[in-house]
Amino acid sequence: MTTFARIAGTGSYLPEKVLTNKDLETMVDTSDQWIRERTGIVKRHIAVDGQTTCDLAEQAARRAIEAAGKKPEDIDLIVLATTTPDKIFPSTACLLQQRLDIHGCPAFDVQAVCTGFVYALGVAEKFVRTGAARCALVVGAETFSRVIDWTDRATCVLFGDGAGAVVIEASDEPGILSTHLHADGAYEKLLHVPGGVSRGFDVDGEDGDPRYTQMKGNEVFKMAVNTLGRIVDETLKANDMKKSEVDWLVPHQANIRIINATARKLSMSMDKVVVTVDQHGNTSAASVPLALDTAVRDGRIQRGEVLLLEAFGGGFTWGSVLLKY
Ligand code: ACO
Repeated sequence: MTTFARIAGTGSYLPEKVLTNKDLETMVDTSDQWIRERTGIVKRHIAVDGQTTCDLAEQAARRAIEAAGKKPEDIDLIVLATTTPDKIFPSTACLLQQRLDIHGCPAFDVQAVCTGFVYALGVAEKFVRTGAARCALVVGAETFSRVIDWTDRATCVLFGDGAGAVVIEASDEPGILSTHLHADGAYEKLLHVPGGVSRGFDVDGEDGDPRYTQMKGNEVFKMAVNTLGRIVDETLKANDMKKSEVDWLVPHQANIRIINATARKLSMSMDKVVVTVDQHGNTSAASVPLALDTAVRDGRIQRGEVLLLEAFGGGFTWGSVLLKY
């Protein structure tokens, strides 16, 4: 019998400190109206000094483990997606493993920026399907505020911090139906933080401070809309499924206009799309599991329903997961 991986529980966490559009008006030349109209964002949460990605991940992970009816010792794989690790090494997955007092199971980070959680879920699902793991903790966690230039209005209004997690377990019933992961490194310069461990943080010939996110917003926007449209087609075709069979779209929360375009592509009314971007902005790898957990906990998403998760981010990377919840 085929082993599937099914979601046993979800959890999420947003740091307490809130930064509103009004707050941003006092920091850069922007307006609440511009931010709402162009992005749909109303506020974002920001980790305070000393609060790290692992701190956020731990809260989300504990909630997901509890919701799954599991104990930390049941977890036999940890895959954590982040662009903003606590340390260069060990991985944030290993730091989280220690916090949860789990010992011995594989634990590693995945880096695919905003597509990170979709990648991490795709990887963990393979472990479960092949029998290499039975109960995996998959986390998307970011303190993206740390790689933002807070004097650059083109990027600072968009991002926030947070974490989301799921526990997946082996099951005879589906479960995750398919995962679709893609990347094209040709687009490196449209969305990147130019500095790094190996290149150094004092890189010449780049626009702006190399420690912070640089983005050609308009070009990223167009690519995101087109690419997400294509991945919807690819996912449905691979499952021989019609648009009408998808109960919920759980998209990456970057910009409400990108989400609207993907919903139109699916001929889906917006009341079947989980939107949380207004509440926390773009939290990169945390955004899909944050949205998923929100709609599970408020009772919108019910067991047995078909969910399409999708994301697009730096790399470029993009991907989707189709699953029966
Ligand atoms: N407040 C006021 N005005 C602003 C702001 C701001 N915060 N930011 C830019 N503007 C101005 C620009 O300077 C420009 O002015 P000009 O016309 O005088 O030159 C004008 O607004 C329009 O700028 P555009 O960049 O063309 O605006 P656009 O409609 O494209 O919206 C945005 C910008 C919101 C960034 C959009 O392009 C976007 O969402 N892009 C995609 C981002 C994304 O999805 N990233 C996903 C992956 S993220 C990851 O992987 C880490």
